Amino acid sequence: MNLHMFAVCIITLLCLTSVSHSAPLACEDLVQPLDQLDPHQLEGRWALAAGSLKINGADKLPPLSNSVRIDFYNSTFTQANRDGPHCRSRSQNISIEGHRFNFMIGQTFNFSGTFFKTSCPDCVMLNLVVDSPNYKSVELYLFSKRREVDQKELDEFVSQVKCLNMPPHFVMDPTQSLCPVTVPAASTKA
Ligand SMILES: *[C@@H]1O[C@H](CO)[C@@H](O)[C@H](O)[C@H]1NC(C)=O
Ligand SMILES: *[C@@H]1O[C@H](CO)[C@@H](O)[C@H](O)[C@H]1NC(C)=O
Ligand SMILES: *[C@@H]1O[C@H](CO)[C@@H](O)[C@H](O)[C@H]1NC(C)=O
Repeated sequence: MNLHMFAVCIITLLCLTSVSHSAPLACEDLVQPLDQLDPHQLEGRWALAAGSLKINGADKLPPLSNSVRIDFYNSTFTQANRDGPHCRSRSQNISIEGHRFNFMIGQTFNFSGTFFKTSCPDCVMLNLVVDSPNYKSVELYLFSKRREVDQKELDEFVSQVKCLNMPPHFVMDPTQSLCPVTVPAASTKA
């Protein structure tokens, strides 16, 4: 090997090393839409683990529910929030195309969003854009099959929150029980 080649090797090595050090922090790597979502991946029960909310016209976070549960079956999800002793739930049909989803509540509440990649194996990371005449928000959620994610998974979510210029995240209390949910009729046959 001549001296010139040696120099190139050193520079390349340094470049590779610096790339591999900085890559995990780059937002374009941290925040990527899922390539293709298999709706079967979404099936079952999910618990909200962490989130971040940006509500137009509101400078502080609204009171959060004690727990949020989503059951998803065959393009229908049922959301159940628990506030103290009270459970509120609603079912909603949702349309999913690729990594994007959309649903309307009534004529005016337009919900749309994107599923993002996460390294957490039993999580779903998504944003939700709510558009209506009197209420607009952007929301980022990490749902998991578990009640809480580990520190590394939470750190990744926090980085994603920052990359997306969202307000500081909140973490749900995993000791708060989830609401019991009557699973939509369609899924009981499956
Ligand atoms: C979802 O769609 C199905 C069939 O299209 C319908 O029967 C059901 O009532 C809808 N559910 C809701 C909550 O809109
Ligand atoms: C809802 O919002 C999405 C995203 O902004 C948009 O593509 C869609 O056309 C809207 N749907 C309605 C019915 O307004
Ligand atoms: C799920 O949805 C598909 C089409 O959207 C329908 O053909 C099928 O019967 C549904 N399955 C159940 C269990 O409701």
